[in-house]
Amino acid sequence: MFVTHARKLLIALLALTAIAVAGCGSQAISVPKTDKHAYRGAQLFAERCGGCHTISAAGTQGSKPNNEINTRDRTNGPNFDQRHEDHKSVLTAIRQGGFSGAVMPGNIVVGEDADDVAKFLDKYSGKSTD
Ligand code: HEC
Repeated sequence: MFVTHARKLLIALLALTAIAVAGCGSQAISVPKTDKHAYRGAQLFAERCGGCHTISAAGTQGSKPNNEINTRDRTNGPNFDQRHEDHKSVLTAIRQGGFSGAVMPGNIVVGEDADDVAKFLDKYSGKSTD
C-alpha cells in the first residue's frame, strides 16, 4: 500500500476522534443489518469518514453546524443529511480526496469497502428535509 506515514497518523487520529464522538451518546447506525452492503458502508463511514462528515444514518456529526462555519475549520466536510451523493460521485470523491483534492485524504477506503460506502451514501444521504 502506498500510504504515507503522515496519512496513517491522520487516519489514526480521525479514528480516535470518531471513537470519542461515538462515546458521548451519539446515535448508532440506523441502517438495517439486512441491507448488508449499506450497513457495512455505514460502519466504514462512521469509522473513517465521520470525523469530517455528518450523516444521521451512520450516527456521525463531523460537519460543523452553520453557526460554527466562521471558524473555517478545514476539516469541515459537507453534511450528507442535507446533500445527496450518488454512487458514482462518492467513488470519485473517495479516489480524488473530495472534489477538490485539497482537504479530504484520498483512498481512505478502497475496493469493495469503497463500493459499500458508496452504496450506503447513494441510498441514505440527502434525507434531511431542512
Ligand atoms: C479530513 C476530513 C475528511 C475525511 C476523513 C473525509 N472527508 Fe469527505 N470531504 C472533506 C471535505 C473538507 C470535503 C469538501 C471539499 C472537497 O471536496 O475537497 C469533502 C468532500 C466529500 C465529498 C464531495 C461532496 C460534495 O458534494 O462536494 C464526498 C462524496 C465525500 N467527501 C465523501 C467522503 C467519504 C465517503 C469519506 C470516507 C471514506 C470521507 N469523505 C472522508 C473532508 C473529509
